Amino acid sequence: MPSAVFELPDGAELVLDVPDDWSLMEAARRDGLEGIVAECGGGAICGTCHVQVDAAWFGRLDPPGMAEQALLEVVPERCPTSRLSCQVIMTPELDGIRLRVPSAQLEM
Ligand code: FES
Repeated sequence: MPSAVFELPDGAELVLDVPDDWSLMEAARRDGLEGIVAECGGGAICGTCHVQVDAAWFGRLDPPGMAEQALLEVVPERCPTSRLSCQVIMTPELDGIRLRVPSAQLEM
């Protein structure tokens, strides 16, 4: 099964199994990952699933849709590789993807 590596603000890394066709947010919620609240349940309207994708992986992702782009404009700690983890769907090509959970996510 593919996996994703989430780096927490304190530097800890957690490797989560992510079934194909699951969003990264779904796997994070299943495993109770701190900082991925996902208040809207994956509707791309809350921003509480924000992650910063490792630059080496960012270019492999499908581009964000308009709703995601708009929300990313206002999330705390936005960076050039920011994405909503509910909008990133696991595929075999993304096995091993690395992400960082912004510290602001722990305050939500
Ligand atoms: S879960 Fe709400 S934007 Fe991703």
